[in-house]
Amino acid sequence: MGKLYDNKRKPVRTGKKIAVGRTADVPAGRGATVKLKDGAEVALFNVGGKFYAIENFCPHKGYPLADSRLSGGIVECDLHGWRFDVRNGECYTKKNCSLENYEVLIEDEMIKILI
Ligand code: FES
Repeated sequence: MGKLYDNKRKPVRTGKKIAVGRTADVPAGRGATVKLKDGAEVALFNVGGKFYAIENFCPHKGYPLADSRLSGGIVECDLHGWRFDVRNGECYTKKNCSLENYEVLIEDEMIKILI
């Protein structure tokens, strides 16, 4: 079965590198919502000092994953507990529900996401 809900906040791929903040803004073990143009969003996570970005959208019912609990590299949706690997977007709860992930680059302590 495919995704139950479509992510209307999913960024359109442009190949552009977008600066979104400083590394100090997102402590280890935490997530942050990154708002882009046209209402698009990604969820940015700091896993032990490494940064990862995925869609900010749980495909079960659309809850924003940046606000959910991160444990190691796994974010567990606060609403009903679906689990995703923030390092590659893989969904551990249901098949074919993996999320897009976006490359994150750190340059001079700035976080940049390749959309
Ligand atoms: S909305 Fe995420 S598990 Fe239900």
